[in-house]
Amino acid sequence: MFAIYLRVFTYYLRYWRPTVLATLLTVVQTPFSLLKPIPVAFLLAEALPAMGKPEHGLVLKLGDFFEFSLQPWSLPQIVLGCSVAIVVLHLLSAWINVVSQMMYYRVGLQGLLSLRVDLYSYLHALPLKYHDARRSGDSTFRVAYDSQSLEAFYSKFIFLFQSFKDLAGYVLAMWALDLKLTLLAMAVIPFMVITFRIFAKSIRDQATHISERESSVLSLAQEGLSSVRMVQAFGREQHEIQQFSNSARQSLEAKVRMQFTSMYSSMLTATLLMTSMALVCWMGGLHVLGGTLSIMSLMTITQYMNSLYQPIDSITSVGWDLERAAGAARRCFEVLDQADDVADKPGAPSITSTRGEIVCENLAFGYTPERRIISGVNLRIEPGQTVAFVGATGAGKSTLLSLVPRFYDPDEGRILLDGTDLRDIAKKSLRGQISIVLQDTLLFSTTVRENIAYGRADATDAEIIEAAKRAQAHDFIMAMPEGYASQVGERGSHLSVGQRQRIGIARAFLKNAPILLLDEPTSALDPTTESAIMQTIEELMEGRTTLIITHRIATIHNVDKIVVLGPGGVVEEGRGPELVKRGGFYAGLYYSANLGEHGLATS
Ligand SMILES: Nc1ncnc2c1ncn2[C@@H]1O[C@H](COP(=O)(O)OP(=O)(O)O)[C@@H](O)[C@H]1O
Ligand SMILES: [Mg+2]
Repeated sequence: MFAIYLRVFTYYLRYWRPTVLATLLTVVQTPFSLLKPIPVAFLLAEALPAMGKPEHGLVLKLGDFFEFSLQPWSLPQIVLGCSVAIVVLHLLSAWINVVSQMMYYRVGLQGLLSLRVDLYSYLHALPLKYHDARRSGDSTFRVAYDSQSLEAFYSKFIFLFQSFKDLAGYVLAMWALDLKLTLLAMAVIPFMVITFRIFAKSIRDQATHISERESSVLSLAQEGLSSVRMVQAFGREQHEIQQFSNSARQSLEAKVRMQFTSMYSSMLTATLLMTSMALVCWMGGLHVLGGTLSIMSLMTITQYMNSLYQPIDSITSVGWDLERAAGAARRCFEVLDQADDVADKPGAPSITSTRGEIVCENLAFGYTPERRIISGVNLRIEPGQTVAFVGATGAGKSTLLSLVPRFYDPDEGRILLDGTDLRDIAKKSLRGQISIVLQDTLLFSTTVRENIAYGRADATDAEIIEAAKRAQAHDFIMAMPEGYASQVGERGSHLSVGQRQRIGIARAFLKNAPILLLDEPTSALDPTTESAIMQTIEELMEGRTTLIITHRIATIHNVDKIVVLGPGGVVEEGRGPELVKRGGFYAGLYYSANLGEHGLATS
């Protein structure tokens, strides 16, 4: 717990200047806020009772420190003076307060900003292994919501400090007026703390309950509305509405209960406060009658007592607020403490070009230590060669490909690029040499142009159009209402799968990297689109070292090498015709694709 505080503290250390300045301002503000009850008390207790006496002899007396004779002024002037003082004191204390609170607020948010940016950039730097193990919603939540705990920490600390300062101010001021009364007034504090404690627990349990209810309302609405087609098709509207309204009702009940608890607790504390106020009035009244206390002082003390409530409340509840903030802050720091296990070696050189020779030596990898996905893979790919990977679903084809751009590092063995271990190359520069086309191209919700240029932000319009033409995407892009400036929608939803694929291929043409990874680039397409797109892919493969995963026999039968992955590793390897003769997995694939009779060369 303490470690978290310390860490939050270090985040705010760089803002110590505005924090100190704001704190000085709040200290300056304190006397003004303490003086606030004086004008009214003086007016009612001293000035008005002097009515009818021309020689009023009024003296403004604050405790034993301050005396100021008001003899030169007439009573109406003094009344006016008191009224003006009410406004002036308020304005002074309110304005200093605004300035200092705004300073605190800005600093609090600046800390939040820097934590958010740190988190977001660190999440981008973390290897896929980290992201695989979590839902993306969880990381999003940490960046967007958990990070806010940092600001909560800061403002709670400040608040705590201010509450203590206010409390001390009131107690000292009361003390200066009447010691016994102060002790009597303070006797209520422990009772109030106990009441706050008791209710705070129940209120926060209820608040958690409410947020659970609310989030279930949200997820029900989300689920129901996103599958509205299904709901209507099966005529289940009533059922969905019923579920939704039940859940919404539970949230209502929970809120009503919590409102009652919180009103009940304020009522109790107010009763405590009033009881102690009554005691103070009683004893204070006796002191006034005995001549040891002025009416004005008694009025001031009762005013101060009214103000005790707030600081006591916040001091009592701050512990819990900090606890909750600590939980969220811990989730943020957890991310930042995550070691990057696919980190660049210190001083690993960047590469700017590559011949594209890839050698796998005795490769083994599993996402978790318990389960090997591939092992004992030895493979040699010459520059410019095309190697096709086939095998059952889950055999580890995609996994093997993802080791090439170092999305993961192998557990054993190594991959060499032009004779250099991938781990000795700066990750970013390695990825600069590789283009990837996946089964479904991910598009960002921006223009066609920016999506094509995603891998090369500096590309000119001419280059982008050239790449689109080679990917045979130019025509359909021009047919869109705004051509290259058309929006593709969320995740490219305005485009068909085939069109998205063409954009992905255009991206690869534009990036023009010597190594190409294709992971089932056509398997989401219908046969006609598939063969059309395959043509452009074959053009893309020209002159590049290509690793392709596909079951399209027509594409791979004549490539340089076919690798069949089975449980645990490579089970067959060779050219298509050889593998057909051998009669293994590939031969089965070949015959089931019915190509034997269609006259595809088998020799
Ligand atoms: N990110 C991941 N985390 C954990 N296991 C994974 C992950 N990706 C794939 N796997 C598992 O690894 C195995 C191989 O997957 P994959 O390489 O995608 O197979 P293929 O591409 O050959 O169909 C599967 O059993 C799959 O469940
Ligand atoms: Mg796969």
